[in-house]
Amino acid sequence: MQKNIAVLRGDGIGPEIMEEALRCLDAVERRFGHSFATSEALLGGAAIDAVGAPLPAETLAVCKASDAVLLGAVGGPKWEHLPGDARPEKGLLGLRQGLGVYANLRPATLFPQLAAASPLRADIAAAGIDFLVVRELIGGIYFGVHKTEEKGGQQVATDVMEYSESEIERILHVAFGAAQKRRGKVTSVDKANVLDTSRLWRAVAGRVAQQYPSVEFENMLVDNAAMQIVKNPAQFDVVVTENMFGDILTDEASMITGSIGMIPSASLGAPGAPGLFEPIHGSAPDIAGKNLANPVGTILSVGMMLRYSLGMPTEADAVEAAVLAVLESGLRTADAAGPDDVPVGCEEMGRAVAAAIGKA
Ligand code: IPM
Ligand code: MG
Repeated sequence: MQKNIAVLRGDGIGPEIMEEALRCLDAVERRFGHSFATSEALLGGAAIDAVGAPLPAETLAVCKASDAVLLGAVGGPKWEHLPGDARPEKGLLGLRQGLGVYANLRPATLFPQLAAASPLRADIAAAGIDFLVVRELIGGIYFGVHKTEEKGGQQVATDVMEYSESEIERILHVAFGAAQKRRGKVTSVDKANVLDTSRLWRAVAGRVAQQYPSVEFENMLVDNAAMQIVKNPAQFDVVVTENMFGDILTDEASMITGSIGMIPSASLGAPGAPGLFEPIHGSAPDIAGKNLANPVGTILSVGMMLRYSLGMPTEADAVEAAVLAVLESGLRTADAAGPDDVPVGCEEMGRAVAAAIGKA
């Protein structure tokens, strides 16, 4: 098959993890006889430096014209002084919104090979961690009105959080659909004891749940969810929540699986529209350019891209199997290393996974 893929390397460790992800994509291309045409475009700080805007119109056009978008990471201290609207992160949010990718799927899976890297007590980790967070991605407080004003002689800042029934409904359907293909349980996370948006969320979630009688359903308050994720993560199958709660809970969920560097994501919108695939970690400027980054989150994002946007489940399985085989052989980058491991660099990790795909 012939597919067009937009490639956005971004900032910090973005370029080096993308290099390894593309190496693995090349391996898939050769192994399965596909033809992937990649188009590189600028996003985030790299775009600010080159053309003065975090999301150039050309970048969005290239992404919209592709079958899928693969992204490294954006942001860094170099651009932190810029006003909110001009920052690299604004480019990422604009891209998500421009592509209409409202459903962000973030798996939290503890690979048994990485149990030693999990900060959880061994008996809790041993019960298994394998859940999927479905995060609403283009609504809520991220996209409400943001303003800072002078009031009564001091600065007052406001961020508006808004959700409509239809926004809540469509993300709940994604969660229930995913649960039907998994272990059949949905936990909807909100703050319904305080927030109106959460009370609406809970009402809509309850309605949608009735359409999926075979799926077990529960509501959970976000503070309790934060606690349950470290106390008893085995209870979760699919967790669905609004944008900011999802941002916070997925960092927590990733840590208990050993390292945030391992976790991929898929952001999906209308059927047939290009999906956006990116690791959930940031640009890690402190280790950028040092060959220390973990490319696995980005490589597994290639896997999700093959599965969700390119209709290539066998190829996706091959990428995941290759990652597992490499972890099994003992290779890991520093972030995922246990006390007895000798870590390898970003490139060595990427080369090993690409080689394993070739043998699949
Ligand atoms: C993420 C990141 C982004 C977010 C930042 C970089 C804007 O933390 O993808 O989780 O908050 O969504
Ligand atoms: Mg985040």
